[in-house]
Amino acid sequence: MRILFCGDIVGSSGRAAIAEHLPRLKRELEIDFVVANGENAAGGFGITAPIADDLFEAGVDVITTGNHVWDQREVVTLLPREPRLLRPCNYPPATTPGQGAGVFETQRGKRVLVINVMGRLFMDPLDDPFACLDQAFANHRLGADIDAAVIDVHAETSSEKQAIGHFLDGRASLVVGTHTHVPTGDAMVLAGGTGFQTDAGMCGDYDSVIGSDKGMWVQKFRSKMPVGRITPATGAGTLCAVFVETDEATGLARRIGPLACGGRLKPRWPL
Ligand SMILES: [Fe+2]
Ligand SMILES: [Fe+2]
Repeated sequence: MRILFCGDIVGSSGRAAIAEHLPRLKRELEIDFVVANGENAAGGFGITAPIADDLFEAGVDVITTGNHVWDQREVVTLLPREPRLLRPCNYPPATTPGQGAGVFETQRGKRVLVINVMGRLFMDPLDDPFACLDQAFANHRLGADIDAAVIDVHAETSSEKQAIGHFLDGRASLVVGTHTHVPTGDAMVLAGGTGFQTDAGMCGDYDSVIGSDKGMWVQKFRSKMPVGRITPATGAGTLCAVFVETDEATGLARRIGPLACGGRLKPRWPL
C-alpha cells in the first residue's frame, strides 16, 4: 500500500498547495491513502468545517491536528460529528470532544489505523503519550486486523519524536513528526520495519518564519514586545510530505522518502 502524509497545512498558501498538487501526486505515485495535519489551515490557527471539506475534496482521507486544534471554536462541535478529523489522543479522555485515533478503509478495502498524539517537551503537559499509544494499539495488530498504521507525533523536540518512533518500531507502518514546520532529512526504515521521519515539514510558504509573516516574527524576537496576532505568509506554498510504501502482508514499511513540490523549497521526489 502507498501512503502519503502531508505536514502542517498553514493558511491559504498551504491550502492552495494541497489543492494544486495533491490530486496529481496521488495519481503519479498511485497513493492509496492520504493523511494531512490541518492544525494551522485556518489562517494559521486551527481548522473549520468548510476548510476540512476542501481538504477532503482535494484527496485527503484523514486530517490530524495538534496544539492549535482548539483555536476555532466550532471545532468543539465539528470533532464529534466528523470521524475523519482527529485531535491528539492524550488529551484528558473524560472531557475532550472527538477522537485521537480511528480505523479507516481505503478504496481497495484496506484498513488503516491513524493515531494523532502530542509530545510533552515544551508543550502542554498532556497525558503520557507512550501509555496512550499502547492503549491505541491494544486492540490492533499490524498485518492482522489492520493493513497499515500511521502515527502523527505532534511534538517540539526531535528527541521525543525519535523515542516514540523506536517505541512503535515494528508496530506501525509510519511514525512521522509534525509541529516544527521544517522537514528533516532523516527519512528511514527503522530496525523493526517502521518508516520514520522526525518532521514532515509544513505545507505553506517557506519565505516566512514557520509559515507566518517573517517581518512580524523578526520584530517580535527583536523587540520582546507583543506584535499582535501573526498572520500567515501569503506567497507560493510548498507541499511537504512523507511517502511510505508498505508490504501488503506485514504492513511494515518497504521504503520511505520525503516529498516537496512547489514554492521555494528544492523539489524532492520520494521514489
Ligand atoms: Fe503546526
Ligand atoms: Fe503545532
